[in-house]
Amino acid sequence: MAQRHCKRQFLAQAVPKQTLAKILQVAAQAPSSKNTQPWQVSVLLGSAVADLSQRLCQAFDAGLPQQADYVYQTQPWPPEFLERARACGYGLFDLKGIERHDREARKAHDRENFTFFGAPAYLVFHLPIDSERGSFLDLGFFMQNIMLALVSQGLASCPQFSVAGYPELIREFLGLTGERSRWIISGMAVGYPDPEAQVNSYIPERLPLEKYVTWYE
Ligand SMILES: Cc1cc2nc3c(=O)[nH]c(=O)nc-3n(C[C@H](O)[C@H](O)[C@H](O)COP(=O)(O)O)c2cc1C
Repeated sequence: MAQRHCKRQFLAQAVPKQTLAKILQVAAQAPSSKNTQPWQVSVLLGSAVADLSQRLCQAFDAGLPQQADYVYQTQPWPPEFLERARACGYGLFDLKGIERHDREARKAHDRENFTFFGAPAYLVFHLPIDSERGSFLDLGFFMQNIMLALVSQGLASCPQFSVAGYPELIREFLGLTGERSRWIISGMAVGYPDPEAQVNSYIPERLPLEKYVTWYE
């Protein structure tokens, strides 16, 4: 658990399909309400990754508005969340040498989400339309299992809400339209992390135990 952190630059080295299949199989041991297992995942490899990335970059470059199928962040954000999010963003900018007011560099940084940070494998997680919060919770366990298992195999990941900002484009790409329509919840870049990349050394600080644990004895 302590070793898993998001990686944002991957080697081109392909991820063996059998490794991914095994991880996805074991990850489904995640708990879910009454074993409903609401998660589904589309796995993109090879040219499928490049094709989706290209379409997303086109949408991003054209300035198409990003609107996910669901609201991710509590509105308005509690001030302490805002503070932590800022610290996280600036931490990444500092490592990448991006000045805080450099709009172009910040835009290029955002765009990297849509090139999947060079990841050779890409996962898209989806749920039934109109899923309730409980299903999101269940999906989260599944996703975390995958991310931990990847680490055990020398692989790494970055879950991506940003990509869920273009749900129509993704649905069309994956053939999840009409009766097969689903809510697009999150993407996840997967691959071998580039050990030389500065950005991959970033580990955002965590709160001390007493900030989030209350004991009753
Ligand atoms: C559901 C979800 C969506 C996320 N979306 C993005 C994203 O679009 N782009 C990104 O760079 N990081 C994304 N992150 C990564 C978070 O910024 C990261 O988990 C957090 O800063 C803690 O860092 P760590 O995972 O490296 O420990 C996402 C994380 C989660 C859980």
